Amino acid sequence: MDSRDTAGGEPGVARSYETIEQSVLIVGAGAAGARTAIELVDQGIDPDDLLVLGKRGHGDAHTTWARGGINGALGTHDPEDDWTIHAADTLNEGHFLNDPAKVETVTRRMPDLLRELDDWGMAFSRTDDGEIDQRYFGAQSFRRTAFAGDHTGESMLETLIDQAQARSIPYRENVFVTRLIASGGRIHGAVGVDLDTGEYLAIEADVVVLAAGGYTSLYARHSSRDDENTGDGPALAYQAGATLADVEFVQFHPTGMVGDRYGEEWDGRLVTEAVRGEGGRLYNADGERFMERYSPDQMELDARDVVARAIAKEIDEGRGTDAGGVRLDISHRDRAFIQERLPRMYERFAELGVDMATDPVEVAPTAHYGMGGVVTDDSGETEIDGLYAIGETMAGVHGANRLGGNSLAETVAFGAVAGEAIAARLDGDHGRDSTVFHDRVRHAIAALETVADSDGVHDPQALFDDLRALLWEHAGILREGSDLATGLDELAALRRRATDVAVGDPTSRSFEFALNLGFALDVAEAILRGARQRTESRGAHARTDHPETDPDWRRTVVVERDSVGAMRLDTAPVGEPSDAIQTALDADYELDYHQLE
Ligand code: FUM
Repeated sequence: MDSRDTAGGEPGVARSYETIEQSVLIVGAGAAGARTAIELVDQGIDPDDLLVLGKRGHGDAHTTWARGGINGALGTHDPEDDWTIHAADTLNEGHFLNDPAKVETVTRRMPDLLRELDDWGMAFSRTDDGEIDQRYFGAQSFRRTAFAGDHTGESMLETLIDQAQARSIPYRENVFVTRLIASGGRIHGAVGVDLDTGEYLAIEADVVVLAAGGYTSLYARHSSRDDENTGDGPALAYQAGATLADVEFVQFHPTGMVGDRYGEEWDGRLVTEAVRGEGGRLYNADGERFMERYSPDQMELDARDVVARAIAKEIDEGRGTDAGGVRLDISHRDRAFIQERLPRMYERFAELGVDMATDPVEVAPTAHYGMGGVVTDDSGETEIDGLYAIGETMAGVHGANRLGGNSLAETVAFGAVAGEAIAARLDGDHGRDSTVFHDRVRHAIAALETVADSDGVHDPQALFDDLRALLWEHAGILREGSDLATGLDELAALRRRATDVAVGDPTSRSFEFALNLGFALDVAEAILRGARQRTESRGAHARTDHPETDPDWRRTVVVERDSVGAMRLDTAPVGEPSDAIQTALDADYELDYHQLE
């Protein structure tokens, strides 16, 4: 139901806004959001009771940027693979900080979910026998990464959108959700702004699903587009009273494009791990295949943190290229092979004047994935009744580092799980309290009006860039306690500047950046404080002053907002894997890289 509401022009109170009532609001139009909506309809929920909101144009979610593949133990080439070994690899890569129940959910479900995507028409690359093909990805014991060339995310999202359209699931694009409305431990809905018209929206809902991505665009070099993965998902939940965990764990993908070589607009953009999975080799400027020194057994396909730190060290110690990278070379493979397996990479570099069939490309690490996020139960529900968080917004699956190919897997697995759980709860009376809802909406919109009216001195986009530089410098690939403390002091100064910004109307970029900044400041504080508190090195979190992994630190750092709005950190224990997964861990499978040679 749509209507108009107004506060009646009271001073300092919100102007009119559009009201929408829905049973389920899904915030985020990527794979996780789409798969949740599909599951709800397949469980019997009327599509008219749902609404999916996307911050960007329909079909243009960040999922489209996921390239190299999606994991599931199909065993196409390696029949000895199974979900327990996939789970063991995920826990090993996560340095046992993952929530084992969530890992089990993803890995158990993935073979069927891949077959389902196949039945729905996803354009998987195939073996000569017509099976779904699977390639090597880093730190996986077997070839387990299914793929569609090197445009797997794009192909998957197209498939999911087709399925959503076939079920008449309503989408609305270019809406930025700026606040969740929760009270009494329960979700009531959300407030947002239509970025095309500048109109404010209030969506009253029994259930809200946050599938709004992660936070790695808060780093100067990142693999996302600039205006996504800016931390909205975790920050919305945190500001509504949910708990975050593991936010200090930020994955640096080893191979981002080097801006000084290919142009600033390409800086940090992904050169898919599939290049190494298909045999690509890394060389420093001296022509040395340096991974032989860092990881003689797993070479270029060791865990992402190992390869990223190795590249960073080569560059720091003066063995990088003039443009500040190292070389990734797959020219020993046939042109036809490269074109078939890595078509987008081949085309992109060809447009930039590099022929991958004859020449290497230049790469350096780039912020790629936030392992941390919102704490949820096994169904994806947060401690706020009716608020779910899934996909990159959720914590728990990846622990201290994520296995490549597990992010797309997580989106469909937890989309299905959350959809099932939400459908099961929707028949009861949810006892909406519209008075409370609209009272809070008016305050939230008044706060948005205050932002839009800000006539201060600082440009929000410039402050956002300062924040990116700050995190890259103080909470990057290598961290040190005093540096993290300096980062926190600088962040406090940035927070003060952020209270004095010059902002345009709600359709302006400055308005969006000002709101992004509000979310980013909270997430950045959680990263810096979590990283300072964790006095050990584990997975993607490498402390030069605490280089060892400390068994006593097999705990997650949890982050909450206290009653006066200040950030409070604590730690919580991690669960143990099931017997089935423990058996696979004990068997100690490991990738034999040299099969690729
Ligand atoms: O390198 C890649 O294609 C990235 C995949 C992933 O992060 O899962």
